[in-house]
Amino acid sequence: MDIKLKPLIEALQKGEKAVFFLGAGVSTSCGIPDFRSPKTGLYAQLQRLKLPYSEAVFDIDYFRNDPKAFYTLCDELYPGKFFPSTFHFLLRLFQEKDLLQRVYTQNIDTLEQLAGVNPAKIIAAHGSFADNHCIDCNERMLPEELKRQMNQKTVNDGIPTCPKCKGYVKPDIVFFGESLPAKFFDSWKEDSKAIDIAIVVGTSLTVYPFAGLPAECPITSLRVLVNNEVVGDFKRNKRKTDIILKNHCDEVASAIILLLDWQLDLDAIVDQRMKKLTKNAYLIRTTMVSNHSTELMDSLIYENTAEEFSDEVQDKKMAATEKTAKRVAEAIKSTEEERALQHDLANLSI
Ligand code: OAD
Repeated sequence: MDIKLKPLIEALQKGEKAVFFLGAGVSTSCGIPDFRSPKTGLYAQLQRLKLPYSEAVFDIDYFRNDPKAFYTLCDELYPGKFFPSTFHFLLRLFQEKDLLQRVYTQNIDTLEQLAGVNPAKIIAAHGSFADNHCIDCNERMLPEELKRQMNQKTVNDGIPTCPKCKGYVKPDIVFFGESLPAKFFDSWKEDSKAIDIAIVVGTSLTVYPFAGLPAECPITSLRVLVNNEVVGDFKRNKRKTDIILKNHCDEVASAIILLLDWQLDLDAIVDQRMKKLTKNAYLIRTTMVSNHSTELMDSLIYENTAEEFSDEVQDKKMAATEKTAKRVAEAIKSTEEERALQHDLANLSI
């Protein structure tokens, strides 16, 4: 893999910037299934929802008639329960090193932001859970209210409805049959004029218009695909300079970090994000924490999904979670002890 990565590493060492194109594969190691992987993908697991076809769960016409399938999944997919992967932190490292032009993501898990990527750099092509609207009268519903209604399973089956017109309310994630946000098109018009490096990761490149972006990158761009399988334009119109890595994306992230000698920077960022997240009382589960801590953290995150709170809200949340914060601190301590132990054990086995 190191040899294949050489042109990328050299370009980055020259200060060339990267545009990332992300799909669900970057979050599978965080515990979120992708869509189309056989067996493990979300669409393979949807028999229980008795859909006419898997993608109907995200189809606006289907939702209009039967929103239950989507809200059944929504409980599982709602952001706040997951912690960024090494790959998400790599994006943050690119930003720190002034090597990040943009992140185009199809994902709605907000893990790029949780890793500390500046929201101005992120184009959430398929929308997000940050806001919600009635599909009939377009009345806005705050996330807190949406979640309150979702959790009241005895009322309307937990399907949020508009207080004004009683229409169904849907998070602003882009469904099939809906257009992508204007920001996606505006930003791409600018970005596509000049791209040094295009890195496509964890996507089957099946859903357009997003899937068409790699083909629209300038011919001078160094294109990199990091994916379990060769997909889209990398398969149909492979360019001579394309780098194709059929590897786990976290493995590739670690290799890049090693080759660029960024390990200490990564550790510092992860530590800093952990502290920040703890301060906001929603420290999250991570591959680095022990299993017994994750349950506690999951429950905290559920209550604290927004990344940045206003001072007033933050103060209230801090007060309310003082007790749980103590428990988190204990959990972290035990996690650190466990990590130290694991480290010692690893050294012993060497
Ligand atoms: P898919 O599930 O279609 O594709 C994920 C790709 O990532 C597959 O090719 C996997 O093999 C690969 N993959 C999974 N884990 C990986 C890992 N750890 N390392 C490397 N590769 C990995 O997901 P998307 O392409 O994101 O749209 O799907 C696109 C859109 O289809 C989604 O945004 C969603 C869905 O319907 C809407 O909901 C509108």
